[in-house]
Amino acid sequence: MSKPVYDYSHSSALFERANKVIPNGIPGHFNPIVQKPSGAYPHYCQRAEGARFWDVDGNEFIDLMCAYGPMILGYANPVVDAAAQGQAGKADTCTLASPVMVELAEYLVELIPVADWALFAKNGADATNMAVFIARTATERRKIIAIDDGYHGSSPWMQSRARAGITPADHNEVIRIPWNDTAALEAALDANPQQVAAFISSPYHHPVYQDNALPAPTYWDAVHGLLERHGVVSICDDVRAGFRIDMGGSHEYFGYKPDLSCYCKAIANGYPLSAVVGSEAMKEAAGAVFQTGSFWFSAAPMAAALACLQELKGRDGPSRIMATGRRMLEGMVEIAADQGQELVVSGMPSMPYLRSAHEDGNEFHQALCGECTRRGVFMTSHHNLFVSAAHGEAELTRIWEVFDAALKTVLQESLVRT
Ligand SMILES: Cc1ncc(COP(=O)(O)O)c(C=O)c1O
Repeated sequence: MSKPVYDYSHSSALFERANKVIPNGIPGHFNPIVQKPSGAYPHYCQRAEGARFWDVDGNEFIDLMCAYGPMILGYANPVVDAAAQGQAGKADTCTLASPVMVELAEYLVELIPVADWALFAKNGADATNMAVFIARTATERRKIIAIDDGYHGSSPWMQSRARAGITPADHNEVIRIPWNDTAALEAALDANPQQVAAFISSPYHHPVYQDNALPAPTYWDAVHGLLERHGVVSICDDVRAGFRIDMGGSHEYFGYKPDLSCYCKAIANGYPLSAVVGSEAMKEAAGAVFQTGSFWFSAAPMAAALACLQELKGRDGPSRIMATGRRMLEGMVEIAADQGQELVVSGMPSMPYLRSAHEDGNEFHQALCGECTRRGVFMTSHHNLFVSAAHGEAELTRIWEVFDAALKTVLQESLVRT
C-alpha cells in the first residue's frame, strides 16, 4: 500500500521567509519555479543519509536526483566523511596546500588513462573555464565550438543568450553546433581556419527538457579525426557523467581520448571539489594560465575525493550503479506498460532521462514526477535522474510501488479532466 501524500507546510513557511531575504527564495535550479507542478515538491532538507533525505516537515524521500549528481556513494557515507573530517582536523583551508592535493593528483593520474596531471577547483564551471583557458593558451586561438543546449556551467559564455545579464559579446567566440553532427563540426572548422582553440562537449548529450542522446557509433572517431586535422583541443565535460559510467572517465566507455577532461559533481560524494586533468602535451599551457580561488586549496574535500574514488573503484561503483539503474528502469517501463502507458527512457542507466509518451505531453510527465515526489520518491521531470551506489533492493521496491500508485493517480486525474 502507498502512504498518503505529503504535507509541506514547514517548507512553505520557510520559503516565505526566504523570499524576503534571498532573491527568488532559492536561486538557480533548486528554485520551486523549476520544479513543477507547484506544491508537489518540498524546498528544504533537514538531514540526509544513504539514498534518502528528510525534509523540514519530517517527510522521507528516496532521492533520485542525488543533489543533481554529487551524491554517488550515499549521503553521510562513513568512509568519505571520516576522511574529510580527519583532514579537517589537521588542516583544511590554510596558507599552504596540503599533501593530500599531491596524493589526489597522483591517484587521478593512475585512474584516468588520459591524465598526466590534475588541477583542482570548486565548481564544474571552474573546471570547464579552466580547460578553455588551457586550450586557448596551448593553441594561441580564441574560438570554442560547443553543442547546442550543452551545459557547461553558468559563466557568461556558457549561458543562453536570452538569460539576464548576458551580452552578445559574451558569445563572440563561441560557435554552437547540433549534437551528433560531424558535418556541422567540419563546416564550423572550415569556416574558421586556424581560429578554433577547442571543441567542448559532454561525452553524450544530456540536455534538460529533451530526450538524452548517446553518440552515434562512429561519432567520436570522426570528431577526433577532424579535431586532429585542424589542430583543435578536445575537452570532455565529464562534470555530470564522471564516475557514473567508467572510473577511467566516460570517454573510456565511449572509446575516445580527449586532451583535457573536467570533473566535479560525484568526485567527492558531495564535498566541494572539481578537477581538470590533461595530457602531457597540455601541461605547459596548464601551468601558464592564471586561475585560482579563496577555497581552491581546501584539503578536506580533496581527502573526501580520494576516499570516494577509492571506495567507488573498490566496489566497482559505475558498473553496479548502471546495473541498478537498468533494473529500476526495466521495472518502471513495465509498470507503465501494465497501465497502457509508454515511459520513454534515454541517456545512460546511471543517469537516465525519462519522458511519458502521453497525449498531454510534458504536463503529464510533470504531474507524474510530482505525484512520485509527494509519495516519497523525489524526481524531477525536466532533468536526467541520478542513481547511486546507495540505491539497493529496498529502494527499488519502494520506487516501483510509488511509481505504480503515482501513475494510477495521474491517469485517473487526467480521465476526470477530459
Ligand atoms: C555537464 C556539466 N558541466 C558543467 C556543469 C557546471 O557545474 P557547476 O554547476 O558545478 O558549476 C554542470 C552542472 O550541472 C554540468 O552538468
